[in-house]
Amino acid sequence: MNRIISERIRYVGVNDHSKVSFEGLWPLPFGVSYNSYLVIDDKIALVDTAEADFHSEYLSNVRELTGGRPIDYLIVNHMEPDHSSLMKDIREAYPDIHIVTNAKAVPMIKGYYGITDNIIVIKEGDSLSLGHTTLTFYMTPMVHWPETMVTYLAEEQTLFSGDAFGTFGAVEGEIVDSGACLCGWLGKTENCFAGFSDEMTRYYSNIVGKYGQTVQAALKKLSGLEIKRICSTHGPVWEQYVPEVIGRYDSLSRYEAEKGVCIAYASMYGNTEKAAKALAAELAKRGVRCSLHNIGAENVSYAYRDVFKYDTVAIGAPTYNNDIFPPAYNFMYGISARLVKNRKFFAFGSYTWAGASVRLLNEMAVKLGFELVSEGMSFAQGYSADKCSMASVAELMMK
Ligand code: FEO
Repeated sequence: MNRIISERIRYVGVNDHSKVSFEGLWPLPFGVSYNSYLVIDDKIALVDTAEADFHSEYLSNVRELTGGRPIDYLIVNHMEPDHSSLMKDIREAYPDIHIVTNAKAVPMIKGYYGITDNIIVIKEGDSLSLGHTTLTFYMTPMVHWPETMVTYLAEEQTLFSGDAFGTFGAVEGEIVDSGACLCGWLGKTENCFAGFSDEMTRYYSNIVGKYGQTVQAALKKLSGLEIKRICSTHGPVWEQYVPEVIGRYDSLSRYEAEKGVCIAYASMYGNTEKAAKALAAELAKRGVRCSLHNIGAENVSYAYRDVFKYDTVAIGAPTYNNDIFPPAYNFMYGISARLVKNRKFFAFGSYTWAGASVRLLNEMAVKLGFELVSEGMSFAQGYSADKCSMASVAELMMK
């Protein structure tokens, strides 16, 4: 891998193809990268670290790319352990290093790693000279932790953005998006942004999705900066696709969506599943984009991705204990927790002796301010088109 990003910036991150679940929750079919950077001037700054499992590889990268020089500063933009857990190792390797971060990170550094000394506390707009270049710090609280901040290198119009603008997917080959960008095991993609597009939306919707308002505040704050390069903590270094990446975060954090339907269902004996498939078939006949997710069987991160992607959400759930079948209830709770707005909604599902799930799902959707496509379709026992015409629902969804 070419690790030289510019005259002064070096990439020292690592790719993880082994971890099964990110944050113990979200699958990584294409791996993930933990990005870290050196800014080399009269002084050397290291921006964030990497995940603890990669101790040896990471330190080897750092030693090689500093050429034996000491590191003066460790900039801590974000304290989540995928970026901070090699902090102690770096201090052991470079005993004179100073950690540079904001006040909210200080107790986290003590709590996670027991470190209390050699910390320089900076605040909004403060700068740190490295010699010929200067780093400036901007606070971006709750994107997606309270201590999150970004670091701007004006001389190279480069934003070290922490998790913001990041994506799942390891980056093999060339780390910069204009090069021969490889998305994990997807292989070479012609267009780096297109190659990472779905994994970026899945990352955003599951990790950052709740924080649309604070992402908007951060985007507004950063809009005054000239940004020609984004060095995020996950995924490619963005150069060619900076406007697209900022546009995607802007759109996602406004909860904007394209025309289409995310069908998410859970089924006990296959009857609600038949209804879900019938709806998908009717939508496909009419050329409406849709995705179908069995949220009782697959990891829900894919369905949440499509809740953010499409303007209509259809949830299928049987009635269970006079309530919503638990996987569907949990999924709706997750939509609510992500503060999703501005969606059309349709509920459907089977029952045996008394229906409750459709009514209760509708009540949850109304509380979220969703527009009901119809009163929903609740059907007794087995599914048939006579009992529950998905053709008519598909017609309503086309409006
Ligand atoms: Fe990639 Fe919030 O850590």
